[in-house]
Amino acid sequence: MYHVSIMGTGSYVPERVLTNYHLGEMVDTSDRWIIERTGIRERRIASGEETNVTMGGIALERAIENAGIRREEIESLVVGTNTTEPVWPSASGHIANLLDLRKDLPFLDIQAGCTGFNYALSVGEMFIKGGQYGTVAVIGTDKLSAITDYEDRNTCVLFGDGAGALILKKATEEGIIRSHLGGNARSRDLLILSKKDGVGNGYIKMEGRKVYTFAKRAMVESCFHVLDPSGTAGKKELRALFEQVTKIIPHQANARIIMGAAEELESRLELPDGEAKNKMIVTIEQYGNNSCASIPLALDLSLRSGKLKRGDLVIFVGFGAGLTYAANLVRL
Ligand code: UT7
Repeated sequence: MYHVSIMGTGSYVPERVLTNYHLGEMVDTSDRWIIERTGIRERRIASGEETNVTMGGIALERAIENAGIRREEIESLVVGTNTTEPVWPSASGHIANLLDLRKDLPFLDIQAGCTGFNYALSVGEMFIKGGQYGTVAVIGTDKLSAITDYEDRNTCVLFGDGAGALILKKATEEGIIRSHLGGNARSRDLLILSKKDGVGNGYIKMEGRKVYTFAKRAMVESCFHVLDPSGTAGKKELRALFEQVTKIIPHQANARIIMGAAEELESRLELPDGEAKNKMIVTIEQYGNNSCASIPLALDLSLRSGKLKRGDLVIFVGFGAGLTYAANLVRL
């Protein structure tokens, strides 16, 4: 089996900023409520012309430049997304066309709610580990503003738009170590697209409390799975594995879910207060929940700002509609 390294990253967010104050003029909410309950101050909203395809395309161009490769070197493209309109042909094909990637390039979309990026990354990982391709591009991109009901205060304060991309390459040293993919199809009705008054496009409808409870537990479970895939490690051993992790990049859905998961990790592993919380990378304040983009965007921002560096051991952990959840253990 081959190793898989992350050669480069890129990201893109739209220019338009939608603050909590703007939302306070649209629905019955307040800056204070949103900050306290979610940790979000503002989010980016795509313009009419921008789509998951255009945003993903820019993120990929930036990742190609960052990796220092030529675009012809990309042998396959995997895109995690939920907001392609019309739903087919796939966003990946549109992006391949937009960027003039190789004419015979295989491309596919993964639709797994906000876990789409973690799932897509694991597909890219397997393509390389299995020897099928040497260079794979992975994108997470979503325009949630297109499926957000701006009359529903339960959901509209949470979501934003953006994209992030990675270039994966066959390597001699360990990079993406392993992934864990989880699912709970019985809970599919907790987070769905639903036509408003039976007409038009679907909008996000969510049982927030139930998703919240699921998310905290699922994130912890997935972190444990990637650290200890056989599930045989005792508490001490698991704690030692966890202590080697430099940072965790969680899906940015709610700062309270992230800190709640960290508390649960601290309690289950009997870690000192703050040990897991301090590992959490949180970018939600400025970007809200932009679904498949949230993890690759946070990764790119963290690498470019020096918060993360090559050699760090990092867990990407996500959850979302489906319900799905997943984690990837990565040596940067
Ligand atoms: O990518 C995955 C997608 N989704 C998620 O991860 C979301 C997971 N869930 C959450 O993040 C949280 O459940 C929310 C942020 C959605 C809600 O926070 P909460 O602490 O679970 O609040 P709640 O739903 O229990 O509602 C508490 C109160 C309710 O009022 P009453 O019934 O107590 O009078 C809501 O009507 O807050 C009210 N409320 C609001 N008030 C002001 C709900 N949304 C708002 C709002 N502004 N935007």
